Amino acid sequence: MEQILNPLQTSLGRLKMNSPVTVASGTFALENLDFIVQEHLGAYVCKTITRYPKKGNPPPRLYETEAGLLNSIGLQNPGLDKFIAEDLPILRKTLTVPLIVSFSGASLNEFEQMLECLENQEGISGYELNVSCPNVENEGITFGIDPDVVYKLCALLSPLTNRELIVKLTPNVTDIGVITKAAEDGGATAISLINTIWGMAIDYRNGMSMLKKGIGGYSGIGIKPLALALTYRAAQAVKIPVIAMGEFITGRMLWNSFGLEHL
Ligand SMILES: Cc1cc2nc3c(=O)[nH]c(=O)nc-3n(C[C@H](O)[C@H](O)[C@H](O)COP(=O)(O)O)c2cc1C
Repeated sequence: MEQILNPLQTSLGRLKMNSPVTVASGTFALENLDFIVQEHLGAYVCKTITRYPKKGNPPPRLYETEAGLLNSIGLQNPGLDKFIAEDLPILRKTLTVPLIVSFSGASLNEFEQMLECLENQEGISGYELNVSCPNVENEGITFGIDPDVVYKLCALLSPLTNRELIVKLTPNVTDIGVITKAAEDGGATAISLINTIWGMAIDYRNGMSMLKKGIGGYSGIGIKPLALALTYRAAQAVKIPVIAMGEFITGRMLWNSFGLEHL
């Protein structure tokens, strides 16, 4: 019988993917897979895991603006041990597409320890390093804004794994090309961007922020031009694959961008 070719089939390093579409970390709980056919996904990226559990920020921590979403979830997650003991078995059982584990450390050493733990686990095809978090060794300055730190992190982790090593970059930097190149030079196998940009909304009635924490991360429809510009710059700076994200609020928008209105 003639084999029907899937025109969206692609690869990311050694990963074979049904499509170039992955979910963005933190936006897509496993339950949402009911709404989307897995065969249309290239990979599943889980919510960022940290070494220790995080309760997240106090509410309100989501606010829908006229043009996109503000969030200050604060990386709420069960921590690495519970993720491995409870979430990973469910992910392994449920997913038919490659699993990419997003994680974040508070120091280079913590990133390294987390990777070593995850390396002992089956069913993981790759990692996405979330470098949009403060580095305790570097006066709390966000990892992802310092090219030297991004280089050191990638150079430390890349020899420890044969799995895909994606670095997810923050857009809150002056020159995305320099940071992207630092990740590639350090041994990252792919780049993903953009994480959320700083944003805020004020309640005109009382002058207070709509988010308890004040400033949050802005995502969704309003960030598309910025996401495209930074993706373009990043792709010019490196040879490794660049995974773009920013704007998508519905599955339909996503499929439409591939000209696949019918899916
Ligand atoms: C509620 C929420 C939670 C998020 N959590 C994470 C996270 O845990 N790790 C991460 O790397 N990015 C996280 N992000 C950022 C998204 O993965 C994505 O980079 C960003 O939202 C831009 O894409 P979009 O405009 O298509 O949503 C989160 C975004 C939102 C809206």
